[in-house]
Amino acid sequence: MKQQLNSLRASTIGLLSQIADIKTLNDARSRILGRKGDLTGILRGLKDLPIEERSTFGQLANQIKAELEVEFDLRETRLREDLEHSQVMSESFDVTLPGRRLPLGRSHILNRVTHELLDVFSGLGFQLAEGPEVEIDYYNFEALNMPKNHPARDMQDTFYFSDNLLLRTHTSPVQIRTMETHRPPVRIVCPGKVYRRDADVTHSPMFMQIEGLWVDKDVSFADLKGILYAFTREYFGEKLGLRFRPSFFPFTEPSAEVDIQCVICGGSGCRTCSSTGWLEILGAGMIDPTLYGFVNYDPEIQSGFAFGMGIERVAMLKYGIPDIRLFYENDIRFLNQF
Ligand code: DAH
Repeated sequence: MKQQLNSLRASTIGLLSQIADIKTLNDARSRILGRKGDLTGILRGLKDLPIEERSTFGQLANQIKAELEVEFDLRETRLREDLEHSQVMSESFDVTLPGRRLPLGRSHILNRVTHELLDVFSGLGFQLAEGPEVEIDYYNFEALNMPKNHPARDMQDTFYFSDNLLLRTHTSPVQIRTMETHRPPVRIVCPGKVYRRDADVTHSPMFMQIEGLWVDKDVSFADLKGILYAFTREYFGEKLGLRFRPSFFPFTEPSAEVDIQCVICGGSGCRTCSSTGWLEILGAGMIDPTLYGFVNYDPEIQSGFAFGMGIERVAMLKYGIPDIRLFYENDIRFLNQF
């Protein structure tokens, strides 16, 4: 009897997988599990068994019956779903409808601005350079004339992996990396992410800079000004003024911080520029000759300038974005506007 029950179970399961419509399914259900069905037929043999075996086989039969009922139900659900699906498909499929367009992604606004900046600077003769975001102390500080314990290191709260390994705090290490591997003249720009332990309304722990470096013979501060004015005109499309304020960076001498006339109010004073008419966009200066010592350039022959510009700052001015945090929140309503 056990064999009969098991073979009924196996043949039913095999049959179920071949049934393709509900009527056949129902017929099979009553033929196998119905009152006068196969299973009942087998169970009729129970009465011929010795008493102690009846309950064992009775239990097995009930178990198989329950299992087969579930299998029938599953098959029925599946067939009904298929039927519904094919009805929907055949009734409402209009081949003349235009296709649905997949939403297209686009570049993040900061990447857009980065490419715009690269366009302008490549038009001015600068080549693209790149450097790692995980940097060693030597390039981020030491070779930029910031030895250990130099107070200027305190200005850049740094994420350290170890004493020697850190997230670069600025794109300036690429100056050293470039000069190390290229003989002058060099004229490069390097955009990229930089990191500082700093977070408030106007500061983000990750932000972007674009570094510029031009070293050749007889490069002067006048060239620096010329390039920055050309950049301003080209990128902001108007004759905005620049203001050079004396400043200090260990890797440039003399150094300047450069303000641009407020793009929003044109210099008359507004909220964006705190009523000063000016906005700081970059640090710059003439390469400190100490740096040439680190890269085997001759300071008697070479001269050059460098600058480091904040990309978020420039993007905010160009597109009238009021809050730096908007760049990183990934709110699609914001990003879709550009
Ligand atoms: N690296 C500086 C900073 O992040 C910015 C800077 C200043 C870059 C002067 C330069 C430079 O190339 O010449 O604060």
